[in-house]
Amino acid sequence: MRWQGLIQEYKEFLPVSENTPKLTLNEGNTPLIYLENLSKEWGVELYVKTEGTNPTGSFKDRGMVMAVAKAKEEGSDTVICASTGNTSAAAAAYAARAGMRCIVVIPEGKIAMGKLAQAIMYGAEIISIEGNFDQALTMVRKISETEPVALVNSVNPYRLEGQKTAAFEVCDQLGGAPDILAIPVGNAGNISAYWKGFKEYHEAKGTALPKMHGFEAEGAAAIVHNRVFENPETIATAIRIGNPASWHLASAAVEESAGKIDEVSDEEILAAYQKLASTEGVFAEPASCASIAGVYKQLQNGTIAKGSKIVAILTGNGLKDPNTAIECSPIKPVLLPNDEEAVANHIRGVVHQ
Ligand code: F0G
Repeated sequence: MRWQGLIQEYKEFLPVSENTPKLTLNEGNTPLIYLENLSKEWGVELYVKTEGTNPTGSFKDRGMVMAVAKAKEEGSDTVICASTGNTSAAAAAYAARAGMRCIVVIPEGKIAMGKLAQAIMYGAEIISIEGNFDQALTMVRKISETEPVALVNSVNPYRLEGQKTAAFEVCDQLGGAPDILAIPVGNAGNISAYWKGFKEYHEAKGTALPKMHGFEAEGAAAIVHNRVFENPETIATAIRIGNPASWHLASAAVEESAGKIDEVSDEEILAAYQKLASTEGVFAEPASCASIAGVYKQLQNGTIAKGSKIVAILTGNGLKDPNTAIECSPIKPVLLPNDEEAVANHIRGVVHQ
């Protein structure tokens, strides 16, 4: 039967009733791809869950369909969020679909071009502040307390409810939980949601539990260093967050699962970003590749054992951030005249001027 989206497919695991709007863009049901080349090279069994195949190109759709549906059910007509880009794209899309107003607050100059294009196209009201994500989040949290707007950042518990469904899918696709779940960490909502999902599914179906390995960017590694980063910096703008809202939930997930919270540098992220695309044909945005970079790092230093079954979450689509791809790639288009012979000669490795 046709996939009906998360609210319908997972209703027995979600806080929904007949009164909940049947909102969907057919989110969820994303592929779990076995990485043949990297698995062989690294001596592991490595899969990626491509959350960039969701309707707006990131995992945020899972949480947003729930948060927006519940806001509508509870009588709101406006949603608001702070965002490094993906949350705003998802909020804008689901609000449009639900016939609601959407206000997004973003850090000026620090969101990827594709994400901004999405918020514009879906008709959000966009406020760009000269501040970072953490400051934008503080602002919208306060505003939502006094104004008639529903906050749809991941501090809204419905967001984690929707996002936990990805863990269900991993278990169904793999026939049980992997040994290790590798995931990028920014505001720390998603790692918390996955852990909740794995626990609930294990309770219901005996699917076992993975070790949760979360990866922050080195310049924004608050949980790793147990201190707020006032001025977080990383090329992976999606996770450029210095004071994660779900810090304690994420720490609990790592502790309860006997996992690890770790950091990866921008160089490691970019290397993983390029390697994943060029050796496996999978293009994920830089922040997503923190999971792959982290797996590689931990295989080298022995934190992850050879032979492990690993699922790495690729949280967003590579097309979200074309600028980083073009700026960071060593491959540049070769400029030739509009001439068949010139092109043929170039391909043969003999360029005649
Ligand atoms: N990967 C991507 C592509 C993201 O957009 C985010 C978060 C994360 C990972 C981290 O997830 O915050 O649950 O730990 N993006 C948010 C946003 C902050 O506004 O789009 P998290």
